[in-house]
Amino acid sequence: MTVKIGLVGTGTVGGGCIDIILNHKEDFKRHLGVDIELARVCSLDSAEAEARGVGHLFTKDFNDIINDPDIDLVIELIGGTGVAHAIVTGALKAGKNVVTANKALMATAGEEIFRLADEAGVEIAFEASVGGGIPIIDPLKHSLISNEISSVLGIVNGTTNYMLTRMDEDGMSYDDVLAEAQAKGFAEADPSADVDGFDAAAKIAILASIAFNSRVVMSDVHTEGIRNIQPIDLATAHDMGYVVKLLAIAHRTPEGIDVRVHPTMIPEEHQMAKVNGVYNAIYVTGDAVGETMFFGEGAGAGPAASAVMGDVLDVSRHITMGIPPIVGCTCTDKLPIVPIDNLQTRYYIRLVVPDRTGVLACAADVFARHDVSLRSVSQEGTRARDAVNLIFVTHTASEANIRAALAELDAMDDMLQAEPTVIRVED
Ligand code: HSE
Repeated sequence: MTVKIGLVGTGTVGGGCIDIILNHKEDFKRHLGVDIELARVCSLDSAEAEARGVGHLFTKDFNDIINDPDIDLVIELIGGTGVAHAIVTGALKAGKNVVTANKALMATAGEEIFRLADEAGVEIAFEASVGGGIPIIDPLKHSLISNEISSVLGIVNGTTNYMLTRMDEDGMSYDDVLAEAQAKGFAEADPSADVDGFDAAAKIAILASIAFNSRVVMSDVHTEGIRNIQPIDLATAHDMGYVVKLLAIAHRTPEGIDVRVHPTMIPEEHQMAKVNGVYNAIYVTGDAVGETMFFGEGAGAGPAASAVMGDVLDVSRHITMGIPPIVGCTCTDKLPIVPIDNLQTRYYIRLVVPDRTGVLACAADVFARHDVSLRSVSQEGTRARDAVNLIFVTHTASEANIRAALAELDAMDDMLQAEPTVIRVED
């Protein structure tokens, strides 16, 4: 049989998929015994489809794909949770298998999507939603299935990893490196999803759900981005033997799932500290396998299309062989999410304060009254005239106490001249 495919979204990743299908269709027949045909493509205008030589398959209306009884599999590559939700749920309700790269959709509506797939007896596959070309969802659902996973740590946003790497290696300011990332096309004109950590939050929600067999949605993830990070923070981290990464963290704890995204100091000698530039890496620890790391390109036409097409061929093989969906939703447990206030860790805190007698003593006193024990205090550089950076490194402290201390400092007249920079230390 021929598996007929409807593709929605012909941008960077969609274009990469069209190229792979057109160039390798015969290889797939020979190597896998799978005959796939691109039957329809949909996007806002036909220019991209025409440029790739598939203008004759173009439609502007995704309903032409969903309602086409000949189409077996729909690839959704437009992203977001609006129209994409209608496309994915509509395709599943129409009994079509779906492959998507949509992390925001899977991290917010995953439960509904799996239920619809289950009801229709079709597959939903989403390898490309996390880590671009890095295989991670399939390994978690198959190769590592016998493990109890204790933690998943991810550098899963290439834009911010590139920005932190440039700030670290070249001492560039946050604003300059953001402008450079935008000029190179890594960062969007509105960079919020990347720099505020939301992209990483969606990805760790998906990974935690699979790793711990318990649904984690994006709003469960405590999320902080990198807007307050400056080269001074990266340089000080090196002095302490650490590197700063925007880390997506998910731990299985006796209290439940500890899941968060924030700038994090990791020891310089850790493998994750060496992941630089736009690269992504995911570090998984299981009780049988031990520690494993998955590394590769987290974005871009080739890597993302590689992940999408891996799913497409996997699902197409099942369709061809008449194999019903084997792995659907794996969230069989209901573990609680551990509130961020329960976190106990070490903290690096940089305050920008007036350069005035007594300010350091006052800040230290606030931390002491909130039971935050200080390991070191230093005054670094001048950020602006009459303002200095005060850098505190704490012993293990409670997040709730740190927040209470920072709130008290914030409420003081003429104390904090900028939002505090808080970096948690993950040993
Ligand atoms: N914007 C993402 C990143 C890629 O910078 O890694 C898409 O998930």
